[in-house]
Formats: sequence, structure tokens, C-alpha cells
Amino acid sequence: MRPAASDLAAPLREAWYYALPSRRVRRRTVVPKLMLGEPILIGRDDHGAPFALRDLCPHRGMPLSAGHFDGREIECCYHGWRFDTRGRCTLIPSLVPGQRFAPGQIHTRSYPAREAQGNIWVFFGEDPAAAPEIPMLAGFDGCAPDLVESVRFPAAIDHAVVGLMDPAHGPFVHRAWWWRSRRSIQQKAKAFAPSPFGFTMIRHTPSGNSRAYRLLRGAPETEIVFRLPSMRIENIRAGRHRVANLTAITPIDDRVTEINHCIYWTLPWFWLLKPALRHYARAFLRQDRDIMERQQQGLRFSPPLTLIDDADTQAKWYYRLKREYLRARAEGRPFENPVQPRTLEWRS
Ligand code: FES
Ligand SMILES: [Fe+2]
Repeated sequence: MRPAASDLAAPLREAWYYALPSRRVRRRTVVPKLMLGEPILIGRDDHGAPFALRDLCPHRGMPLSAGHFDGREIECCYHGWRFDTRGRCTLIPSLVPGQRFAPGQIHTRSYPAREAQGNIWVFFGEDPAAAPEIPMLAGFDGCAPDLVESVRFPAAIDHAVVGLMDPAHGPFVHRAWWWRSRRSIQQKAKAFAPSPFGFTMIRHTPSGNSRAYRLLRGAPETEIVFRLPSMRIENIRAGRHRVANLTAITPIDDRVTEINHCIYWTLPWFWLLKPALRHYARAFLRQDRDIMERQQQGLRFSPPLTLIDDADTQAKWYYRLKREYLRARAEGRPFENPVQPRTLEWRS
């Protein structure tokens, strides 16, 4: 069974997607969010547990998030139907005693929701057990991100993922005195290996042409992991300190994609740099957004694309991983990672 071309471009299902930083959802509150074109309500109950429901009342389609949540049940604002945090209807106020209608047979869809390292994730699909895991950043157990930046791009998921993994656009798009200049272009060779549901750029010393790494003294080393559906995890080690970057990409609908960038660090003095880091993270993401916005003008004409070796090999791997995941799920067999160990060389 081969997935149709239209399914290939759609966001992968049977996958966890980044929803929100934990702190955005306080106890006894709900937050609405469009994810993969579906209206989702993300909430936190009385006990602090996160949950996710389809944000539509099964009665007459009212967003449930417009109603009232008391920490246990959500009351729809239109006719007062109530739902528990698993989406089961518990009360229909208009029923008269003796009317034989059991509210419990009515549901709004419930999605698995999980909290990890200060972020809430929502699962789209039926079987989280066989899906790529939510990334856990080594050295940051029980920590929340020190900085989170989210930016929305007017691009479909594949272009957003490929755009962010693309190593060759740096010198042209991310020129800035604090990062690098166009003249800093140089030849690079990076070793890659397959890793669960993705691939890893093996631990190495980052190139001297990015000034930001120089802030971290003690010979920084970095490892970059890509994992389906759209997660990039960078672990930087400098002496006994660590910095981790998690970039989690969430499709909002077929045309808009959200990039969530979380930074974790163990260096206490990094707090002093936080305003500057926030500024740079934003500037960096905006550069990507602006270039992809312009790219959309060309993509409207559905031109054929030319992915080359080795600079675009990660993009090719992404498409192969996605295709294999769809096939493996459709055929009910284990996923076989199509990536082989390889060193890629490019100038950037
Ligand atoms: S629309 Fe929700 S109770 Fe009627
Ligand atoms: Fe970029």
C-alpha cells in the first residue's frame, strides 16, 4: 500500500506535536489552539494534569473553550451541556426527568496530552506507543525552558521543516554581525548516523564561523538530532555546562506552520544574556520567516524542485523518513529507518 501524493504532503499523523509552553496553561483554565487544521482545547485540571479535547461542542458546534471550566468539567456557553476532561458529556440541562437520553453516550474527541520539560504536547492519531517519542533533553530533567519563542510561517509543514534543516541558506539569510557574515562561508564536513525515527549529526566542534558559540568557552561540542514528525534537538556541551535547543514545528493548517524554539541552559550567568538571546532568537526566526514568505510567491506555481547532494541530503532524508513512516503505519509493520551513516560536505 503506497500513500497517495496528497497524503505525502499532509502533516504526519500518529505523532506528537508541540502545543504550548506549560506555563501558558494554568490550573483550571483552558486555551484554544488550531493544530493540524483541528480546533483543540488544551486545559489543565484541578490536579494539574493537562488534557486536550476537540474544541467543538457536539450539540451545535460551539467552541467549548468559550464556555466555563471549573477544573473538572467544561460547561458549553450555549445550552450548558457539560463535559469531563475526557470529553464525555455528563449533563444536558434541558432534559426533563423521565426523558430517556443518556448524556454519557455523547463525546467530544479526546487527544492524548503529555507534559515534558516545561512543554505540553498533543498526540494526533490512535497509537502513541509506536510513535516517535517526545524529546527529552539530557541534563534538563524536570526543567522548563529558559526561553521560548514561537513564530508562525506562511508555509506548509514540509517547506518549513526543510527550510529549517537547510545548511546552505545561512550565509545568505542569517547575515548579522553577531552571527556571521557572507564572507565567513567555508567548507564543512559533518558525519551523520541514523537515530530513532530520524538522524543525528554526530557530536562535533561547531565551526568557528558562528560567533555565538564563542560565548561558550571550554571548547563547545554540539550534536543535532532530527526526529519525525518535525523536531530538531541540539545539545551543546561546553565543559560541565550544557545548552539545549529544541525546535518543534507544529502545523497550524495546510498553509501556516508554527516554529517553537525552546532554549535550556545550565549556565547561571546566561540569565544576564536573556534579553539579548531573546532578541537574537527572534531575529533569527524572523529571517527564516521572511525568506519563506518570499518563497511562497514562487511555490504558488508548483514548480519542480531540485534537491542536490550533499547540501540537500537532509531534506531528502526527511521526505524518505516521512514516506517510510506512512508506509509502515499503513502496512502495520515496524518502521525501518532509511538513513545510512554518511558524511555530508557542503560550503556554508
Ligand atoms: S452548542 Fe453546546 S450546549 Fe448547545
Ligand atoms: Fe534559517
